[in-house]
Amino acid sequence: MSEQSSSRSHDIFESGDIFANRELVRVGHVPELGRVVGRDDEINEVGGALGPATRGGPPETTIIYGKTGTGKSLVSRCVTREANRRAEENDVSLQYAYVDCSDYQSETQASREMARELISHLGTDESVPRTGISAADYRDITWELLEKYAVDSFVVILDEIDKLSDDQLLRSLSRARESGKSDTFIGVICISNKIAYRERLNERVDSSLQDNELIFDPYDAGELQDILEHRKDAFKEDVLDDDVIPKTAALAAREHGDARKAVETFYEAGRLAEKANASRVTVDYVDDAITQAEVNRFERLVSGQTPHVKHILRALALLTEDKQQSRFKTAEIYDLYERIAETEETDPLSYDRVARLLKEQSFLGITESEHTGGGPGEGSYLKHRLIRDPDIVLGALNGE
Ligand SMILES: Nc1ncnc2c1ncn2[C@@H]1O[C@H](COP(=O)(O)OP(=O)(O)OP(=O)(O)O)[C@@H](O)[C@H]1O
Ligand SMILES: [Mg+2]
Repeated sequence: MSEQSSSRSHDIFESGDIFANRELVRVGHVPELGRVVGRDDEINEVGGALGPATRGGPPETTIIYGKTGTGKSLVSRCVTREANRRAEENDVSLQYAYVDCSDYQSETQASREMARELISHLGTDESVPRTGISAADYRDITWELLEKYAVDSFVVILDEIDKLSDDQLLRSLSRARESGKSDTFIGVICISNKIAYRERLNERVDSSLQDNELIFDPYDAGELQDILEHRKDAFKEDVLDDDVIPKTAALAAREHGDARKAVETFYEAGRLAEKANASRVTVDYVDDAITQAEVNRFERLVSGQTPHVKHILRALALLTEDKQQSRFKTAEIYDLYERIAETEETDPLSYDRVARLLKEQSFLGITESEHTGGGPGEGSYLKHRLIRDPDIVLGALNGE
């Protein structure tokens, strides 16, 4: 052993005593159907739509709407994967392709991804050209593969379909069989978190696509708690304090019942405990995880702003922290901003410019501005308030 490695007291690749299987709480991980909880009706509906295809018949098309983090992508992927397994037991070939249209927004990109997904599930070494061919060519490649590999049914999941630039792909999927392009039964699962998209979709595609329509409701605290309970084996035995799951679930329920937030916070709390070399995950780590997530989000929000905007925000945050009030007149903010600009050795912007920038920040949702009636003869003036905790704002400004 070299001197250097023997001098280390611990294995640098050892990752602590918190997680037993961290994969389970990583976002993006598609767990087994048994870990999907509180969506039995939805699972049954999607299962029912794919059921005939597991026995060699045609799958039905399903459209799923619902707010972010309500399990739309998860349920679609889990049930489709399960249908593929069931079909195999029945000696039927049911293949599928998952296309996230927010990553593949043009018809060409989405069609290419569909072909690539099919190939990867077929487990063959076929390849598709990266560029130089049209969306229609990629679709033809798909139809040829379906024929060559004698696929009985093909299910395409078009996730975030509202991001897709037009409906050519959807149209050709719904017509492939009747137009004689493919003998394979084709089913589509369309997913969107924009309820307004429903009208548009109904107008633009034919009624054959409207077999099943599902709405996923936000989770309540109890369901979120259940979801986390089913993942707690991500952690080693006995490292989770009893109140960690209820607290994480309650906080996420307040955040519009978003399960992604709940799972992310759960994971982050564990990571923070691990980093601190703690032996247990306590609710304090849950609080820290939430603050950290807000700081990160805020950092992204302010990172594109000019240094002067950051000085203005810093002034407002410092005032908020210092005084027992939250709303400040433009003039008060300007005074402190001027001093900050001086310390930073830059020329302060004019008062009018700062007043305008403050209005802009309120437009971006970073601050809130409100007209307040002054005393007699004073007229009304604007007061500004930070929407976020000053801690978070200062944390984000300092963290850059
Ligand atoms: N019923 C559930 N059981 C277990 N975990 C769930 C459930 N619903 C959601 N999750 C967890 O929350 C995460 C987010 O869910 P999902 O990706 O399905 O949301 P979505 O409805 O597609 O949201 P978006 O509209 O933002 O894409 C999943 O990765 C999963 O970890
Ligand atoms: Mg999704």
